[in-house]
Amino acid sequence: MPEREKLVLAYSGGLDTSVAIRWLTEQGYRVVALTIDLGEKKDLDAIQQRALRTGAVAAYVVDGRVPFLRDFVWPSLQAGALYEREYPMATALGRPLIAAMLVQIARREGATAIAHGCTGKGNDQVRFDVTTGALAPDLKVVAPVRDWGMNREDELEYARRHGIEVPATVESPYSVDENLWGRSIEAGILEDPWEEPPADVYEWTRDPERCPARPLTLEIRFEQGLPVGVDGRPLPAVELVEELNRVGGAHGVGRIDHLENRLIGIKSREVYEAPAAVLLLLAHQALEDITLTKEVARFKERVAAEWAELVYDGLWFSPLREALYAFVAQTQRHVSGEVRLKLYRGHAWVVGRKAPEQLYRTELATYGRGDQFDQRAAAGFIKLFGMGVRTAAEVQGRLSSLDLERLLPPDVKRLTP
Ligand code: ARG
Repeated sequence: MPEREKLVLAYSGGLDTSVAIRWLTEQGYRVVALTIDLGEKKDLDAIQQRALRTGAVAAYVVDGRVPFLRDFVWPSLQAGALYEREYPMATALGRPLIAAMLVQIARREGATAIAHGCTGKGNDQVRFDVTTGALAPDLKVVAPVRDWGMNREDELEYARRHGIEVPATVESPYSVDENLWGRSIEAGILEDPWEEPPADVYEWTRDPERCPARPLTLEIRFEQGLPVGVDGRPLPAVELVEELNRVGGAHGVGRIDHLENRLIGIKSREVYEAPAAVLLLLAHQALEDITLTKEVARFKERVAAEWAELVYDGLWFSPLREALYAFVAQTQRHVSGEVRLKLYRGHAWVVGRKAPEQLYRTELATYGRGDQFDQRAAAGFIKLFGMGVRTAAEVQGRLSSLDLERLLPPDVKRLTP
């Protein structure tokens, strides 16, 4: 009899993937479970044990926190990427790393397939499938939840029948995905976009009404577009992000209520908590404002929007994303310096920024002493700059459809001496 094929499953320890271990085994696979730590505070040893008890032939636990920040989150921070201007993409950035690690373990184990627990309605299936295709076109992708046609009750029944432990998370009315860069919450009452998110969706951020009565000032230092310290203390990546999640959350910063467009054509309401991401994107932008030329800054905004769409759509590993990063990296060479933020009751804003190579020059901007700007030169510049509209007015007459007469109220007060 030929040996049964091996498959590597992304195992979270939740209901879907626990049932999947058993179901895939019934389909004829030897299942290797892979659990990756991206910073959600879970008991990984317990999950590893559960995988084996549920029928996995081997169970891996991998600490992915450093590569996650270094190779996925940091480039995206430098790009300044927000999906649809709101979502810092914690989940979207985690998936390509998980898929890449599935591929690596599949190679080590001599597996012929990888598997994930995504449904057929979301973005995550796309990210897993497309990434696997990009990195290992020979590997099969199996998505049991997409294929087995069981609803939640069926799964619970299946678990009971096969003696599969039902994890505690089954009690939660929400579907949650969590890593260092943020927490994504959907389903339950959130499916009604008119309903305000109830207090129990939030775990990282304090209700602004219960936040400290005084604002907090925070200084973040960047080197070439990457955060390296907070309040004068150098911090390694993981600690820095954890620290900003903690202080940001304590001041209620980082709540996002997004009605977003999924790749597969559904509109969906998702709530995010991402204090560190919100603070870092804000501070990074402020530092770019003072260090990038106008032209680079404006072009980079378009790159950021394109980047966000690519990443959201599962195209992290793609020629365009790589090419865009070449541009982004080039722009970050002078983005070093410090940004001072204030945090207060759900808000964060910039109150100061400085950079050794800043393009802001007081001698040019000042209205006070030391003005080195030649104001008389402005007249000639403006004459040429405005030449086009002046010519159009002279040759083609009135340029505006606005009735200028209507701008003045009928009762303009006019006095004479
Ligand atoms: N909508 C987000 C995305 O597509 C998060 C998806 C996972 N969310 C969840 N609550 N399980 O990136």
